[in-house]
Amino acid sequence: FLSTTSKQGKEPPGPRSLPLIGNLLQLDLKRPHVSLFQLSKKYGSVFTVHFGPKKVVVLAGFNAVKDALVNYSEEFGGRDITPVFYKMSHNHGILFANGESWKEMRRFALTSLRDFGMGKRIIEEKIINEIDYMIQLFGNHKGQPFDNKEALNHAVSNIISSIVYGARFDYSDPLFQEMVHCANERIRLTGTPAIQVYNMFPWLGPLMKDWRDLVKNLKISEEHVRGLVKKLQNTLNTKHRRCFVDSFLFQQQEESPHLKKPSLFLEKNLVCSVSNLFAAGTETTAATLRWGLLLMAKYPHVQDRVQEELIRVTGSRQPRVEDRKNLPYTNAVIHEIQRMANIVPMSIPHITTCDVVFQGFHIKKGTSVYPLLTSVLFDENEWETPHTFNPGHFLDEQGQFVKKDAFLPFSAGRRVCLGESLARMELFLVFTSLLQKFYFTPPPGVSESELDLTPAIGFTLNTPPHKLCAVSRA
Ligand code: HEM
Repeated sequence: FLSTTSKQGKEPPGPRSLPLIGNLLQLDLKRPHVSLFQLSKKYGSVFTVHFGPKKVVVLAGFNAVKDALVNYSEEFGGRDITPVFYKMSHNHGILFANGESWKEMRRFALTSLRDFGMGKRIIEEKIINEIDYMIQLFGNHKGQPFDNKEALNHAVSNIISSIVYGARFDYSDPLFQEMVHCANERIRLTGTPAIQVYNMFPWLGPLMKDWRDLVKNLKISEEHVRGLVKKLQNTLNTKHRRCFVDSFLFQQQEESPHLKKPSLFLEKNLVCSVSNLFAAGTETTAATLRWGLLLMAKYPHVQDRVQEELIRVTGSRQPRVEDRKNLPYTNAVIHEIQRMANIVPMSIPHITTCDVVFQGFHIKKGTSVYPLLTSVLFDENEWETPHTFNPGHFLDEQGQFVKKDAFLPFSAGRRVCLGESLARMELFLVFTSLLQKFYFTPPPGVSESELDLTPAIGFTLNTPPHKLCAVSRA
């Protein structure tokens, strides 16, 4: 145990670190969340590790994570803009930004997404419209095994596109295909061991293939966004606001002549916010759905119960958000999928905005903080069978749905996921619509127990590559 004491108090304990490499010998950079979860068993719920020369304070378990993010939301509410995040944003946009600019962009995005229907019926219609296209795609495979990654990614991307750009894309549009591919690839690259080493020793960047690929990817993605924004700009009509980009452009026009201080509605903020919404809104939701279908194929008895409940409550009509209250088992299954999928296992790194004394430890301003969501979603004090897929976690004895405080896949506090209500609506509508229409099974010759649940490597946790059959229930 190494717990240094400074003038202000004790620093969180942690394993002894070596010069330059820190604790790299104790960290598996392919799955850092697993190493950190293991270290928390030894060093407790607030501990220090060194990623190379960089000091990180890890928050582990529901109590510590919730306490920090909610009760000390200002102190722990900064974003740690690591070298790779800086390369992506230069402190613009929402995800990788701080200060006044972040505050204004986040507030504007939330208002604008609500104006375009987030959490309301307008967006429900858009999602259902997209589901029709996606179901056709699933049906085209006629029950033969296929990889559903593209279909789910494209459908989910189109939902956010229709809010951000005011239109959906045809699935076969090469521009759209490249946009979705780039967004997913960017998230994957951000989590590779090479890019984590780049964060510790940025001068190594140009020697790394992953870094060079990422730089190329950023350039292409920026060109895509600029091209689409330009088209909208050329057809802007002040009487008809079509999308998030329009709202931003109007705000830009309204503000510029009146402001005493420089406007934050800069083109760079527009391009970055749009890229953030597109990337954060696609990969996370599509990956959760992919886990959902894989888990249904793995546990057919759960799938049977969901389908039985769906047929009983909705028959063959389109499931709607208002059905959720009458579908407690299905709702519990979706929550359990999100818990097990653990899509953002270490959240996105935070930073302390001032010196803080937290649970008896002194943490300096500017310290990187990882809220280890893995340790919340698998906290042994909060879940009956943390490592087993068990929809019962969200059901009471009468089979009614119960909320759980430790269900924090969207994190909490000042930086809580901005798209939570949109994501929850998408997950519910897409999952129920697919299960109403199809029965999901492993490919012929593969047994349920052979379906692998080891996540792929990346900043977000995706399923391992796999194929499933979507057998029509008609
Ligand atoms: C941030 C999870 C879907 C937009 C986050 C964070 C998590 C998360 C864990 C980090 C919070 C923190 O820093 O503590 C998820 C999951 C999703 C999902 C599990 C789907 C199942 C979405 C969607 C959108 C979105 C659909 C777009 C509308 C964002 C943005 C941030 C964010 C913009 C940055 C917030 C900030 O830094 O202020 N999300 N998210 N997310 N998410 Fe999501």
